[in-house]
Amino acid sequence: MKNLVFIGMMGSAKTSTGKRVAKLLNMPFFDGDEVYEKVYGETISDTFATLGEQEFRSRETKIYEYLGAMEGVVISCGGGVVLKEENMLALKRNGVVVQMTATPEVIYERVSANDKRPLLREGGIEKVKEIMTARAHLYNKYADFSVNSGFVSPVKCAKMVVEKYKKLAK
Ligand code: S3P
Repeated sequence: MKNLVFIGMMGSAKTSTGKRVAKLLNMPFFDGDEVYEKVYGETISDTFATLGEQEFRSRETKIYEYLGAMEGVVISCGGGVVLKEENMLALKRNGVVVQMTATPEVIYERVSANDKRPLLREGGIEKVKEIMTARAHLYNKYADFSVNSGFVSPVKCAKMVVEKYKKLAK
């Protein structure tokens, strides 16, 4: 059974939708950021602060190598997973990839509710737009399909993902 892999910007509702979808499909759910923090025993913010982004990206690759080798699971990835091709090759080998999208305004509203994301601590909505623009081609390149979480209810959103996954996983 193929995995279902969520990619997209921070705050695009990958994890909340992924959890809902995993329940509907009766598949185990893994959140890449959460697995990272358990495996390395520290928060992502701490890694950024003490070792820097580059070290975070190398460590993150090991997590996605491991998760990509699983079968029949739902995986929600950190927003930067697309920055390394090897991550996406590992995840696409046995996975259907869905891109969650939302407007910069919606993303900004969601992410400003907490300060867990080191890349968005400063710079406001302009920073969100900058990262989105820089990564758009990568999210589009790796996604098998996309769903916008800003315009439909979480329930509808999850149903849309389930329907598409069922068709593509065959
Ligand atoms: C990042 C996204 C975060 C987390 C880290 C870096 C990114 O995950 O992996 O802060 O580069 O977009 P979420 O997309 O789950 O917030």
